[in-house]
Amino acid sequence: MITIKGVILAGGTGSRLSPLTKVTNKHLLPVYDEPMIYKVIKTLTSSGIKDITIVLGGESVGDFVRLLGDGSEFNANFNYVYQQRPGGIAEALYLTKNIVKGHKIAVILGDNIFEDAFKSEIEEFEKSNEHQCCLFLKKVEDPQRFGVAELNNDNTIKSIEEKPKIPKSNYAVTGLYLYNENIFDLIKKIINEIGYSDRGELEITDVNNYYVKINKAKAIFVKGFWSDAGTFDTLIKSSNFVKSFLNNKS
Ligand code: G1P
Repeated sequence: MITIKGVILAGGTGSRLSPLTKVTNKHLLPVYDEPMIYKVIKTLTSSGIKDITIVLGGESVGDFVRLLGDGSEFNANFNYVYQQRPGGIAEALYLTKNIVKGHKIAVILGDNIFEDAFKSEIEEFEKSNEHQCCLFLKKVEDPQRFGVAELNNDNTIKSIEEKPKIPKSNYAVTGLYLYNENIFDLIKKIINEIGYSDRGELEITDVNNYYVKINKAKAIFVKGFWSDAGTFDTLIKSSNFVKSFLNNKS
């Protein structure tokens, strides 16, 4: 049985989707047949993760709790944490410390839609201590919008740049991250030594680059569909993918 804990970061309100997000939260918007956050929950549960902490923000918290409840509908157990102000992925993750510390964790961004489940990758990460961090890379047409991994000849990661103007590769670092128990000490170190970026965020890329530097980050290449769903174009792209996926299944 997998003991890795799941963390979903759904604190952002989704200003890029305004006015769709004027009176509701981005993660409650539909991706074809379900609210976006269902898809993200299912990426974790179909990978074998049952214990999930969800970071929420903004004014729709009651809606999330009414929608998701204690997690039993998903055969899972949910905890909720409230993020008072936006401060970046690493800051939101740090808020879950008291709930998940002492465990390895799988962190997923609440707007990242994956076709694949990652059961074997997560089981492998749980068993082995060879790596302290696992990053999931996907080749994309528009790498400037993401964290971008520069690769060595053996497909290990050389470095990661957050939203580079001139990307060193087409490999986006997707919003699914596996970390070992030392992640919270590391975030504290990043707060003290690097601090917040120009966009006012504690960047997950700074965290990931630390693991890359000490040769403890593993790269996994995502085979199936992946997209964020945080813009008008990627929201419809994700919906269209789910529609065709479901049609092909039936
Ligand atoms: C965030 C991360 C970025 C990553 C992306 C995946 O970007 O900072 O490294 O590639 O998620 O969706 P943001 O959604 O904050 O623009």
